[in-house]
Amino acid sequence: MNIQETDREYVASTYDRYPVTITAGKGSIVTDIDGKDYIDLTSGIGVTSFGVCDDIWYKAVCEQAAKVQHMSNLFYTEPCAKLAEMLCERTGMSKVFFSNSGAEANECAVKVARKYIADTKGPDYNTIITLKNSFHGRTIAMLSATGQDKFHELFRPLTPGFVHAEANNLEYMKVLADAHKTAAIMIECVQGEGGVIALDEEYVKGVAELAKEKEILLIVDEVQTGNGRTGHLYSYMNYDIIPDIVSTAKGLAGGLPLGATMLGGKVKDTLKPGDHGSTFGGNPVACAGAVSILERIDDSLMAGVREKSKYLFETFKGAAGIESVTGMGLMMGLKTTKPAKDIVKACIAEGVLCLTAKDKVRLLPALNIPDELLRKAAEVIKKCCA
Ligand SMILES: Cc1ncc(COP(=O)(O)O)c(C=O)c1O
Repeated sequence: MNIQETDREYVASTYDRYPVTITAGKGSIVTDIDGKDYIDLTSGIGVTSFGVCDDIWYKAVCEQAAKVQHMSNLFYTEPCAKLAEMLCERTGMSKVFFSNSGAEANECAVKVARKYIADTKGPDYNTIITLKNSFHGRTIAMLSATGQDKFHELFRPLTPGFVHAEANNLEYMKVLADAHKTAAIMIECVQGEGGVIALDEEYVKGVAELAKEKEILLIVDEVQTGNGRTGHLYSYMNYDIIPDIVSTAKGLAGGLPLGATMLGGKVKDTLKPGDHGSTFGGNPVACAGAVSILERIDDSLMAGVREKSKYLFETFKGAAGIESVTGMGLMMGLKTTKPAKDIVKACIAEGVLCLTAKDKVRLLPALNIPDELLRKAAEVIKKCCA
């Protein structure tokens, strides 16, 4: 079978794939069908937190698959309960709803916010303020939440109840929060798909204060930034704020589909039986994988992420053909003189996989990528950018 031809014929053409077929991998090295190795700086867009086929993750997942691979949410399973407890203990949140993806984790966050505010202020208070240039997912509601017109154009009518504020403009946020009957503000502390741009510290703190003052909820979308990516377990921890709701997915289960919506004390009992649900949410195999990932996101790993990040910032800042370096931790954007897509293609030819985000080259390596591989890959990127 010619995999690429068959894929192009039968898989919906929503992805502009690179002409590379990956068949195997170990850690931060992946191998294509012709046996060529690549240093992987994509980690499946921030998913394979410890790289491909990591031994500890693999063992945890296989052991659970050999016991029970799925039960309906009408019954209890250990990995689901254990993971929820770990997430709450590590964040100070009170309860968790599990789903399968980032978009679903955000959908749940919005449902919780609307229900909580309807109960406390009335059902008219249903507006969710998100930021321009944000990205919150591909369901119709999350497209509407996403503050980028290019995602809206083909899919109108959008879901009402979302307005978009300019990032890093607290005055504008205050005006919007007053102009609308607002339930919640939802932000990404580092806008990933929007070009890997970290929000200003003062702004994030101001938004958290504003939410408290106006008695509206603060949702932080940690789908891409979460699970150690920015050098702390969740990116809001870099800003010293406490959100009411935190959504995450991507790197949580290290390569299996799992979304989580963490609920703070105020909203922990907002959802009642029947208000929300998911057939696969909290799947024991995905949760067992996530437990094994979360157990390893400790102070020493986070210190390593910050070190590697520092190295990358220092290496790329001022390098030929690189106009700016943005991001946080191992979530990095390079504004390059040449088109980002051309750089990614050149890197692939040289055996390094990286991504784009808007007009930037985006790097999301595994959290434990060995320094030697990171150095090698950085040299290739520098060469391709120059
Ligand atoms: C910040 C953010 N939110 C939500 C999503 C959607 O996640 P998923 O593709 O798992 O639905 C993404 C995906 O890139 C994201 O980066």
